[in-house]
Amino acid sequence: PEIYLNGLADQTPPFTTDPTRLAEAARERLADGPYWYVAGAAGSGATERANRAAFDRRRLVPRMLTGATERSLATTVLGEELAAPVLLAPVGVQGILHEDGELATARAAAGVGVPMVLSTASSHTIEDVAQANGAGQRWYQLYWPNDDDVTVSILDRARRAGFTTLVVTLDTWTLAWRPRDLDQSYLPFIRGVGCAIPFSDPAFRAGLAKPPEEDVLSAVLKWVPTFTGTDKTWDRLPFLRRHWEGPIVLKGIQHVGDARRAAAAGMDGIVVSNHGGRQVDGAVASLDALEPIAAAVGERLDVLFDSGVRTGADVLKALALGAKAVLYGRPYAYGLALGGEDGVRHVLRSLLADLDLTLGLSGHSSVAEVGPGSLSLE
Ligand code: FNR
Repeated sequence: PEIYLNGLADQTPPFTTDPTRLAEAARERLADGPYWYVAGAAGSGATERANRAAFDRRRLVPRMLTGATERSLATTVLGEELAAPVLLAPVGVQGILHEDGELATARAAAGVGVPMVLSTASSHTIEDVAQANGAGQRWYQLYWPNDDDVTVSILDRARRAGFTTLVVTLDTWTLAWRPRDLDQSYLPFIRGVGCAIPFSDPAFRAGLAKPPEEDVLSAVLKWVPTFTGTDKTWDRLPFLRRHWEGPIVLKGIQHVGDARRAAAAGMDGIVVSNHGGRQVDGAVASLDALEPIAAAVGERLDVLFDSGVRTGADVLKALALGAKAVLYGRPYAYGLALGGEDGVRHVLRSLLADLDLTLGLSGHSSVAEVGPGSLSLE
């Protein structure tokens, strides 16, 4: 009804309601650097395109006369009740996109009732984002530092700031070959909208000769070896368990064998993700990896999904293939760039409305009813 009433009052949305046109809208408004930071992918963009093609290959099969006028999007993930099977994916350095950055995202997420996953590379501090998020639900995404003191300090701050679940991103132990970022000489730190950790974290600051306020370059030079590198292996996971009481989720899983290892290591969940095609160019489409992974470990841990989700139908397809919830990435980042808090709210409300309608019109009253049968002709 809101849509018809807005039409009568001659009110139009702040920008397009079509998630597939957000990039185009952002292209018109953003400078090259911020635009390509979001829109860019690894290498030739083959995996980013494959992510979308995998959605396009699958089709929902609607059922009739199911009485789906009353619907619920509610679900439970990792013991936490969610209003919908959707979370905001961690997106770093949001200060590049809007001056309020993660604070705007946190406010919008809390208002709409969708949990946010805060990136380690956030432009605003853990504590400030938590305050902006208020009574909202928040998870923390860890880029796992090589310095254990820094890790423990960050985890402790996140726990005290009310973050419930830890999402450990495994696929970005170094940034991939991203031609678009390289073309822009993308240096967010030096532009002054970089990551808050070097400035805010006592353990990180302790290792610097001069405070980052006085010597940004040294802070950047310490950031790189602290947050990149390959010394992490499966046998290091108990360390995280010792320092985090809540659920732990591994993000970036694409292989059934790795999903099994996560389950064997006692992890609570995984995110089947290829980072939106931003890491390994030529990697498998994330949606193609989802079905065999969910079949192998879905009974033992909660399987979440991201990379390529744009519409309500996409969310339903991921659920049908075994995901318990999805992480929404680039679309809300464009929303933030286009309209700050209002922009993120517009993108999120549009997704949830689309999801609700498509759920009902395909014959389901609740997300629990969505399964392999939702994609099957018989
Ligand atoms: C990301 N992603 C990401 N992931 C993460 O774990 N930590 C991070 O800091 C970031 N930063 C980030 C920045 C930008 C601009 C983008 C687009 C993505 C990956 C993100 O969480 C998610 O996996 C992808 O965005 C999913 O792909 P789609 O749906 O955006 O195509």
